[in-house]
Amino acid sequence: MRRLLLASALIALPVLAAPAIAGPDAPSPILTTPDARDVLTYARPEVARVTHVDLDLTADFATKTMRGTATLDILARPDAREIILDDKGLVISSITDGAGKPLKWSVGADDPYKGAPLTIQIGKARRVVITYSTQPDARALGWLPPELTAGKRKPYLFSQGQAINNRSWIPTQDSPGIRQSWTASITVPDDLVAVMSGERLTPQGEPAGEGLRRYRFRMDRNVPPYLIALAVGDIGFRPVDARTGVFTEPAELDRTAAELSDTGKMVNAAEALYGAYRWGRFDVLVLPPSFPFGGMENPTLTFATPTIITGDKSNIDVIAHELAHSWSGNLVTNATWSDSWLNEGFTTYFENRIDEALYGKERAATLADLSWDDLQRDLKEAKPEQTRLHGDPEGTYGQLDYNKGSTFLRTIEYTVGRERWDAYLRSYFDRHAFQPQTSANFLKDLRANLIKGDKALEEKLQLDAWVYEPGLPANAVHVKSATLARIDEILDQVNAGAPLAAIDTSRWSTQEWLRFLNGLPRQQTPQRLAELDSAFGLSKSTNAYIRSAWLVLAIGNRYQPAVASAEQFLPSVGRNLLITPVYRALKAQGDWGMPIARRIFAQARTGYHPVTASAIARLLE
Ligand code: BES
Ligand code: ZN
Repeated sequence: MRRLLLASALIALPVLAAPAIAGPDAPSPILTTPDARDVLTYARPEVARVTHVDLDLTADFATKTMRGTATLDILARPDAREIILDDKGLVISSITDGAGKPLKWSVGADDPYKGAPLTIQIGKARRVVITYSTQPDARALGWLPPELTAGKRKPYLFSQGQAINNRSWIPTQDSPGIRQSWTASITVPDDLVAVMSGERLTPQGEPAGEGLRRYRFRMDRNVPPYLIALAVGDIGFRPVDARTGVFTEPAELDRTAAELSDTGKMVNAAEALYGAYRWGRFDVLVLPPSFPFGGMENPTLTFATPTIITGDKSNIDVIAHELAHSWSGNLVTNATWSDSWLNEGFTTYFENRIDEALYGKERAATLADLSWDDLQRDLKEAKPEQTRLHGDPEGTYGQLDYNKGSTFLRTIEYTVGRERWDAYLRSYFDRHAFQPQTSANFLKDLRANLIKGDKALEEKLQLDAWVYEPGLPANAVHVKSATLARIDEILDQVNAGAPLAAIDTSRWSTQEWLRFLNGLPRQQTPQRLAELDSAFGLSKSTNAYIRSAWLVLAIGNRYQPAVASAEQFLPSVGRNLLITPVYRALKAQGDWGMPIARRIFAQARTGYHPVTASAIARLLE
């Protein structure tokens, strides 16, 4: 009974809206219902939890390690004896309280994915100081040699936290439901610049001893720790408007800034849809090509792959997507990774609304229609039990959390009408800002604030089927694109043998190319593949989306001339979504393809981020 009372005292903290002035927020509430339990953390936040992380780290490129201290502020029940943190391979040398008194600690058994519990006997201490270093293979950290950068003269380091990688460089409670503010002081070689996903207190850095510079950062808002992100390299900056801008290597700044020149307009459009942008600046860091994702929504500083810089703005929907996470994901956060659709599905829906606001209904329909194709493909490939939105904490099948999730929200929009839906969604983000969210709580909120007992509407929406059942409910809305319908007509002609030279592809967007290439019959003769390649220059395409789709088709037919193109492409790009299908296509060709895949991977591996390297290694096992 006593424990229970204390526990509820700990969690019944006031829910604060973002204060208008800067300054640290009070701790955010945690959820304690069974559906909010995160099986991927060792933490027991109801007993003791981290509320603030202060990092003081030095990046050592020679040993590929970060070393220094993490100082954690703790909120704990009065009777708590220990705090449990998440630890993936940290090399800890000492742990003390805030006054420097050593504390007892131990590390439990290591799980290959979750890592190990780090248990610290805190007694009355409410601050701990951990002195440690990371290992060279820390899962969050990509250490790139100069050859893998655009400038080819300086090394590069970047982190990728989502989902549970940050425990490999930050000793904290690495769970999306345990929000923490943070500060950091990062020391780097003085010819490099450090940037992080928070306010930059020292944009130019400050001297930190021989050959070193220190950069300091602050995030006053409480964020899930997977959003703490760092990059170090030869990084320049170009403003887009007053609150947005672009960071990338100096030689890439012109191209990058031109491609992303709509970023400020995107933020304005997003605010007009769903309320104030609450994070101060929205900058984009375009990384070297080994960045493993399209983008990552690190607050104040979205990380993005350079493969979106295609010269025609046809892939900046990725920026709209990461921006949308500033609401869905970063403000209202999936409580556990089983609820990832609350981040990704909401964001994919919201992203499309930003695209529509900037580029019109047809452009938005084109992107939505392609997502529908992806949804159908995933539904076909997955086992039924893998197709529930509320699902496996290690991820839904393929992109189902994105595309089934966004289709669900679009279906609600079409059913209740846009005006009513937008008003609801806007109030939803406000009511749950800076808090974790579960599927069950979302449905509860929807029933209380949108459906309000309307039985006919409840019947029409089929909410529980959408969230908890496999497959796609019958009310799913499919948005069709006229642009892609034209491509389908061209495909019909091509498949009937029409000459390729007659097709005018000069103004095709990446999405039209993808519909075209993916719509070609999978079985092709070497002659036809040669015609395609020479008509459209596919093997040499510098658009990584086109190159990837082409290689999948060509390799699926054991088309030998494409092997050299794969050999060049696969080591040069680390974006999972573009290279995994090519490796998979090689694997599917057994005795012919596996040796090629293994040979290329052996050479490419050291250039990949650990996230990509381990995904491909597993595929080729
Ligand atoms: N948050 C994700 C990236 C992510 C997902 C990292 C899962 C780790 C685990 C990001 O917002 C994202 O969805 N990126 C997409 C781009 C988007 C336009 C679909 C990607 O990387 O392809
Ligand atoms: Zn996303």
